[in-house]
Amino acid sequence: MPAPSLPAARLHRLGSALPLADRLLVVGAGDPVPLPEGSDQTYPFRAHADYFYLTGLDAPGGVVVFDPRDGADAGWVSFVPPVTEGERVWEGRRPLPGTPLEELPRWLEARRGRGIAALGAPVAGVAPDAAATESLRSHFKHLRRPKDAAEIALLRRSAAATAAGYALLPGLIRPGVTERDLQIELEAGFFRAGGTRTGYGTIVGGGPNSAVLHFEPSARPVGAGEFVLVDAGAEIDRYVTDVTRTYVAGRPSAFQRDLYAVVLAAEEKAIARCVVGAEWTAIHLATAVDLVAGLVELGVMRGRPDALVEQEAHTLFFPHGLGHMVGLGVRDGSGLAPGRTKDPRASLKTLRMDLTLAEGYVVTVEPGLYFIPPLLTDPVRRQRFRDAVNWPLVDQHLDLGGVRIEDNVLVTAAGPEVLTAAIPKILSG
Ligand code: GLY
Ligand code: MN
Ligand code: MN
Repeated sequence: MPAPSLPAARLHRLGSALPLADRLLVVGAGDPVPLPEGSDQTYPFRAHADYFYLTGLDAPGGVVVFDPRDGADAGWVSFVPPVTEGERVWEGRRPLPGTPLEELPRWLEARRGRGIAALGAPVAGVAPDAAATESLRSHFKHLRRPKDAAEIALLRRSAAATAAGYALLPGLIRPGVTERDLQIELEAGFFRAGGTRTGYGTIVGGGPNSAVLHFEPSARPVGAGEFVLVDAGAEIDRYVTDVTRTYVAGRPSAFQRDLYAVVLAAEEKAIARCVVGAEWTAIHLATAVDLVAGLVELGVMRGRPDALVEQEAHTLFFPHGLGHMVGLGVRDGSGLAPGRTKDPRASLKTLRMDLTLAEGYVVTVEPGLYFIPPLLTDPVRRQRFRDAVNWPLVDQHLDLGGVRIEDNVLVTAAGPEVLTAAIPKILSG
């Protein structure tokens, strides 16, 4: 019998579906990593997502195993490390539910000679079969992609905490506020509403910094009329939402309004395309065409939008993919569907995943348009796309920054549901 903490229905589903043949499965949580400064501290411990998914535990050194010969339920055993007196005294750790880790060698010895496939972090003394492990990782990731009810409930709580933080921003964004000020208030809002961590490093970029895709907030004050791009999310019990809103401090210019409207319209259309059976690559490309069509309308690009995207001209202003999966971590089960290889089309170079959307998938939809000087002042690109871009107009906007709008979408049989819909999209207050 699985230990009481193990999610029984999830384990049953996986125990029945994992293509192990007669192999054993060994999944490690990983161990804390000491900080390099010798200060007795470690990086905050996070059990490997594979292990956490199977156990719901953040147990350093934990190992969960499965023997298909013992059946889809009884085959699972969770081995947990002992808690030392020191750990109880210094960290307040409590014993975890499960079988003592010292019994793992006996469990393995009783099955000596059987092949082993591994997930999660490596486990000392266990030598998995490399080919079986690689194929199993891809299958496991795929089986983990549809979110179950418990995961969706956590994501709704995470989205509500994220919304509570974002609700503070419109009242704070004004000329003179610093990126750091905004980060502090936003994250405090997440924690007050039940967040247990931030899902990833909060991004706040004012003015030109809004065009740095993963900008870390600084003490720079936001100038009047500048874009402010905020990309952040609360995490609850390892489940993360990933949201971006873009604002202007003070009065937006006509060009800022137009650019924002193009991104917003593209986002809304992309969300509507997130239906069961849709190909993510197709949604990405259709959105790229929408964004380029908007830029042509604004006089920034020239030509037929679909032809421009085929030549990857969109990557000058939209240099990333449309989104990724999100849930147990900010990239969760992104990647390729089993059996697929990376699509070689130039127009898809920037994409993080190639999947057919299915019920229960949760994806980010995050189109953006940016004026990124390292891309737009590159002579090779300027030459290659000399006719596709109105370069004098681009030169006028090199300090403008950029706009991204990002929501998290649950794919259901009834259509897309935006889990982050409660976070308003307001360009300026
Ligand atoms: N927060 C990083 C991203 O949007 O993927
Ligand atoms: Mn984001
Ligand atoms: Mn994202």
